[in-house]
Amino acid sequence: MNRPTDTQTMIQAASPTGTTPGYMPGFGNDFETEALSGALPEGMNSPQKCNYGLYGEQLSGTAFTAPSHQNERTWCYRIRPSVKHSARYEKIDLPYWRSAPDINPDVISLGQYRWDPVPHSDEELTWLTGMRTMTTAGDVNTQVGMASHIYLVTASMQDAYFYSADSELLVVPQEGRLRFCTELGIIDLEPKEIAIIPRGLLYRVEVLEGPARGFVCENYGQKYELPGRGPIGANCMANRRDFKTPVAAYEDRDAPSTVTIKWCGQFHETKIGHSPLDVVAWHGNYAPVKYDLRNYCPIGAILFDHPDPSIFTVLTAPSGVPGTANIDFVLFRERWMTMENTFRPPWYHKNIMSELMGNIYGQYDAKPQGFAPGGMSLHNMMLPHGPDKDAFEGASNADLKPEKLDNTMSFMFETRFPQHLTAFAAKEAPLQDDYIDCWEDIEKKFDGTPGKK
Ligand SMILES: [Fe+2]
Repeated sequence: MNRPTDTQTMIQAASPTGTTPGYMPGFGNDFETEALSGALPEGMNSPQKCNYGLYGEQLSGTAFTAPSHQNERTWCYRIRPSVKHSARYEKIDLPYWRSAPDINPDVISLGQYRWDPVPHSDEELTWLTGMRTMTTAGDVNTQVGMASHIYLVTASMQDAYFYSADSELLVVPQEGRLRFCTELGIIDLEPKEIAIIPRGLLYRVEVLEGPARGFVCENYGQKYELPGRGPIGANCMANRRDFKTPVAAYEDRDAPSTVTIKWCGQFHETKIGHSPLDVVAWHGNYAPVKYDLRNYCPIGAILFDHPDPSIFTVLTAPSGVPGTANIDFVLFRERWMTMENTFRPPWYHKNIMSELMGNIYGQYDAKPQGFAPGGMSLHNMMLPHGPDKDAFEGASNADLKPEKLDNTMSFMFETRFPQHLTAFAAKEAPLQDDYIDCWEDIEKKFDGTPGKK
């Protein structure tokens, strides 16, 4: 059931852009925002007494001593400190939301896999009960790796709140509209947009338009950042100004409430008597953010050949090994193909990185059939893949005029760690048993004749 009226009880700061909800532009900026005038202390973080009787509290997103260019924290001025937003904890079970390592002895992860869109059921599902883990990689306890999920959401969280201590969540909607009412403000999200919900940030998810389906990449490791552009320079790809962080919003609501916490792969509940979304003002650089993928400016080949798909990286989460990401989020969207004398689709390859793809809308050029919007595919570490026969023959024999790839938006969650299928992905989700057959009729052309093509 939708509860759009709930967010109306959240009192927002004035929006610099005049939109509802209000957002502030920039990626990783040091923001300041207040829903009540004078709620932010001037020139200091921790005054002896905060205005309005608020409590000052710091949320540290990186270690205190992280290098300055990576150091992230936010100061919150709230009705109650967070210690009042938790009581005793009780373990609960959310059996479909898995964490790494989740290696099932009777599931084979070695293989090329593809799934049809996971269908909605008649069951009422929230952000928590509707999360379906497809793959896990690395180890949640050592804060390396990731998990990929599909969410199927039909119901708003009712006086219920959540945070993940394990991870930041990259949310990629494919269908429906969701509202994330967070401690630091409100984000509305729809297909063609993405959002990053930071580790430790409390929120409630409401359905604005359902049913809602999409993809989530749960990042156990170092935070997402924008990739270095190198010789490309200061512009194009994802530009900082196109990212949007919400203005402060709070609710002063007394009602029996449940807070669920994901911590080291397990879920815990705690009961409180009020809404924890009570941050009246905040300043800092650790905050949720949304981005419209239609603002992504792709760079590509303009004479012959084409670069590696890393040229389409929107966000990268480093692993500690330079250039070897814990996760890259890569976008394949509309673009012109102009290369001469070139096989234009992605080439055949094997990759040390593991590639999980999802289709947001349209048709992907290497797989014109079978990879539907809402569907996913997995090409795991060092497993060969590439165009199917029709895509190969079509591209090999095409008249190479400039051509626009239109109506297409797919993405990849690419990680340095092998991805393991969950029991849900292997046994319940609509796995295409015949995916491997898409390469079956690729024929041998070689017969030793020079000049044969
Ligand atoms: Fe690939």
